[in-house]
Amino acid sequence: MRAFTLGLSLLLIVGAGRAPAADAQHGETLAKRWCTSCHVVSDQQSKGSDMAPSFAAIASHPNFNEERLAFFLLEPHPKMANMALSRSDTKELAAYIAQQKHR
Ligand code: HEC
Repeated sequence: MRAFTLGLSLLLIVGAGRAPAADAQHGETLAKRWCTSCHVVSDQQSKGSDMAPSFAAIASHPNFNEERLAFFLLEPHPKMANMALSRSDTKELAAYIAQQKHR
């Protein structure tokens, strides 16, 4: 029981430790797995669905805000498949999408 409690608190500490800097690279992996069927997620992708805006377009929007996007992604929007993204997934996706902004 003691070892279990110790393990649990270690887990909590490690979990809390990996908070801020969202890992855009992992976001890319997630985007390529979950989003490419509809969205053009990067310049390397040639075609997505006509309905969904490209990630470059999303990131280039004047009102783009990475925090807000991460928040938005917690709630699946109606036309999107019901994906259960964790809080860190959404942050990583938002960080990745932010990088797709047109230069
Ligand atoms: C089944 C198709 C589909 C999938 C899969 C999908 N999307 Fe979407 N997404 C859409 C469509 C269609 C829209 C257009 C908005 C609308 O009308 O609902 C959209 C809109 C968005 C928007 C809002 C754009 C804006 O500025 O309003 C974001 C952000 C977004 N998607 C992110 C994602 C991410 C991240 C993933 C992968 C985790 C994803 N989507 C997967 C279809 C999809």
